[in-house]
Amino acid sequence: MAVLVTGGAGYIGSHAVAALLERGEEIVIVDNLQQGHRDAVLGGKLYVGDLRDGEFLDTVFGENSIDAVIHFAANSLVGESMKDPGKYYHNNVYGTLCLLEKMNQYEVKRIVFSSTAATYGEPENVPIHENDRTLPTNTYGETKLAMEKMMKWFDAASGIKYVSLRYFNAAGAHASGKIGEDHNPETHLVPLILQTALGQRSHISVFGDDYPTEDGTCVRDYIHVSDLADAHVLAVDRLRSGGDSAIYNLGNGTGFSVKQVIDIARQVTGREIPAAIEARRAGDPAVLVASSDRARTELGWSPSRNKLEDIIGSAWAWHQANPTGYNKQ
Ligand code: UFG
Repeated sequence: MAVLVTGGAGYIGSHAVAALLERGEEIVIVDNLQQGHRDAVLGGKLYVGDLRDGEFLDTVFGENSIDAVIHFAANSLVGESMKDPGKYYHNNVYGTLCLLEKMNQYEVKRIVFSSTAATYGEPENVPIHENDRTLPTNTYGETKLAMEKMMKWFDAASGIKYVSLRYFNAAGAHASGKIGEDHNPETHLVPLILQTALGQRSHISVFGDDYPTEDGTCVRDYIHVSDLADAHVLAVDRLRSGGDSAIYNLGNGTGFSVKQVIDIARQVTGREIPAAIEARRAGDPAVLVASSDRARTELGWSPSRNKLEDIIGSAWAWHQANPTGYNKQ
């Protein structure tokens, strides 16, 4: 039986595909390559197409014996989602509806879902627990929450069991050096810092230093992308062994401020990395740190690449070897 990975050519999806390959799973990948990269797919059978295309999905489900789906395919830029909410409802929410209906039609009853800390919005508590209030402050988080709720009702009606994984801040690159982070446009802190270290940007902008945190900059919980990938494999195992639907936070449980991340990147790279304080970015909560106790207890997840030096070090290796990302020039 095969695992279908939607969005398997994207940053986190491609690392999940690598983790599945490492344990010999049969893999089918669906990606429309809007954000994904063909070269990020290290193995498995790639179908290029869109979840909203019913005939395309019939081909994928018809040609393969799929017993579980890992669903990454989505747009994920907070800023863009505020300017173009329709794009996010259409691709993320309607795309997921199309996928769940096809799963029903082909009697595939397991799905692992790529969710986000953005479902919480401004947190009530630090660290954040899964039962805390979900009140997204942006369209992106709202669509991910809508997708989670959709899965809940498909479970109730059709017994499609889901595991939703709410990631905090994914960073780093695969140990093989073959895959890493390459978004266009790039908006994430760690790759932007490393592009600055490479001299591709004049400086890194620090979005606000007047937050109620120790040094005034936002605090986030950075987790290695391969630790995230491992959690997806464990979630597939849980569902295959008859486990019930569940929601898990995935983070390290330790927060680092923007300034701390830049300082650690300076140490790791040995480069100067000029920084400039700029205005706050709209919609950024001051502190986002996860409690991942539930994932540790129930999934047996144990992130092993915990040190931020190592997370940034793995990303730095990727950026140095691939300064233009997958677009080799
Ligand atoms: N930041 C800067 N300068 C930059 C880029 C980011 O100071 O050039 C700051 C941001 O303001 C934020 C922190 O660095 O405080 C991290 O920003 P990222 O954009 O790397 O990550 P976010 O925390 O905004 O977003 C991540 C995921 C989203 C998810 C969100 C949940 O990338 O998909 O967490 O809140 F929605």
